[in-house]
Amino acid sequence: MSEAADPSGRAAPPMVPRIAHVRRRRHDAPDAWTLELEMSDGAPLRYAPGQFNMLTAFGVGEVAISMSGDPASGPLVHTIRAVGPVSHALTRLGAGQLVGVRGPFGVGWPMAQAAGKDVLLVAGGLGLAPLRPAIYRLLGERARFGKVTLLFGARRPEDIIFRHEVESWRGRFDIDVEVTVDHAGADWRGHVGVVTGLISRHEIDPAATVAMVCGPEVMMRFVAMALVDKGLAEDAMYLSMERNMKCAIGHCGHCQLGPTFICRDGPVFTFARLKPLLSVKEL
Ligand SMILES: Cc1cc2nc3c(=O)[nH]c(=O)nc-3n(C[C@H](O)[C@H](O)[C@H](O)COP(=O)(O)OP(=O)(O)OC[C@H]3O[C@@H](n4cnc5c(N)ncnc54)[C@H](O)[C@@H]3O)c2cc1C
Ligand code: FES
Repeated sequence: MSEAADPSGRAAPPMVPRIAHVRRRRHDAPDAWTLELEMSDGAPLRYAPGQFNMLTAFGVGEVAISMSGDPASGPLVHTIRAVGPVSHALTRLGAGQLVGVRGPFGVGWPMAQAAGKDVLLVAGGLGLAPLRPAIYRLLGERARFGKVTLLFGARRPEDIIFRHEVESWRGRFDIDVEVTVDHAGADWRGHVGVVTGLISRHEIDPAATVAMVCGPEVMMRFVAMALVDKGLAEDAMYLSMERNMKCAIGHCGHCQLGPTFICRDGPVFTFARLKPLLSVKEL
């Protein structure tokens, strides 16, 4: 667990939210909004790709939300799907309104292990949000990595988040981007079908590849199985898990998966570590 720093350099208590205000709010998909936040005390919140914050909608509650911006620069960015009371309240906040921020928490994407390797990113729906900081890092330090590929699946064309940016990545020569949707009208010119279909057509060098996967749990299971079929080792594929969180510091047990705490030991784990836990029905 990392601790937030206050402007004086002291570590802030991990259960006490810092205050941030909304700089900008952008509608990204029918049910998803991106908030740009600025810490009200002026001290930026530093984090690693794949980490998350606990965001408070005051008077409503607190939820875990991954960072979705560039960890090297710019404001603190979170992309949120409005599904329940807290996420609805957060996505309705406008410029100048206040948010509580605890974090950053958790173990993120294996950027150091990926150095010198090909990197395969597989995202489903809003799962592109937690992978986006890793993409910024990969593109920002491009020479450190081998081939970089993003395979992205969304339900429908209108559910494609960061649409303009995905288009701009597609235009680059240093990242291969393939997008597919489950359902589309006649005006969609791209792939149709689930993201695992893109994997079966994609060439990978199993000895030299690290995979980072984020999306609904069922999608991640199928992606992991498709990657196993391609010969990728289970400890070379990393999945980001979601569970209900309260404390985010390994104290309350809300996010426990067998002997593992998602908040403290994850949310990013190798498939080798997750597989035995995911196969137990009650967990
Ligand atoms: C490490 C971590 C990172 C996360 N990162 C993000 C993120 O970047 N963006 C984001 O939007 N959420 C993220 N989440 C999920 C988030 O923490 C909340 O679970 C979610 O916002 C719902 O909270 P709520 O209180 O609004 O709704 P709740 O009251 O918890 O749920 C209301 C209803 O919505 C359903 N529901 C809950 N979650 C989802 C979902 N994801 N999709 C569809 N239905 C759902 C529930 O089953 C319930 O029926 C993350 C979770 C974890 C653990
Ligand atoms: S959220 Fe409390 S132990 Fe993980």
